[in-house]
Amino acid sequence: MEDYFLARVVHVLAVVLWIGGVAMVTTVLLPAVKRFKNAEERVDFFERVESRFAMQSRITTLLAGISGFYLLHILGWQRLLLAEFWWVHAMIAVWLIFTIMLFVLEPLFLHRWFRERARRAPESTFRLVQGLHWFLLTISLVTVAGAASGSHGGFWF
Ligand code: HEM
Repeated sequence: MEDYFLARVVHVLAVVLWIGGVAMVTTVLLPAVKRFKNAEERVDFFERVESRFAMQSRITTLLAGISGFYLLHILGWQRLLLAEFWWVHAMIAVWLIFTIMLFVLEPLFLHRWFRERARRAPESTFRLVQGLHWFLLTISLVTVAGAASGSHGGFWF
């Protein structure tokens, strides 16, 4: 048995909770909230639910990053120099996007910007939020598919 199996278990559990949550928000929560008649109520409700998820995402993103860099350290940083390990670059890119959003942009100004924009133009703000979630979910799923296939010998270019 690999002696780093625990890091792999933590990594996969963190990714399941985190990306699973993004899928839930994108495919279930946002379409349900869209049916609310009142646009302000829509933004309020979405913000309340998503702020709980944001807290959870911070923990799972952190765990995925720590376990991921540990795995990369054990398996070899030289993977970053090889094109067939494109899925390692994809994992780091997805992780960086979420980390910057959750730990830097959101607390600094994204939250305030979102509230103000939602008050001025609720419909277009909601469409923007939906588009952003679909984008994040798509790149995350492509990355999961590439990593699951690549780490077991299959390479997708
Ligand atoms: C700092 C960011 C990350 C690093 C450094 C990292 C690194 C790694 C490494 C080294 C492996 C093991 C590869 C192997 O066994 O050959 C791995 C596995 C994996 N990672 Fe990441 N990862 C990161 C973030 C992510 C993210 C954001 C996702 C999902 C969007 C992800 C999904 C996966 C999956 C699905 C596996 C395959 C597990 C398996 O089938 O055994 N990782 N990661």
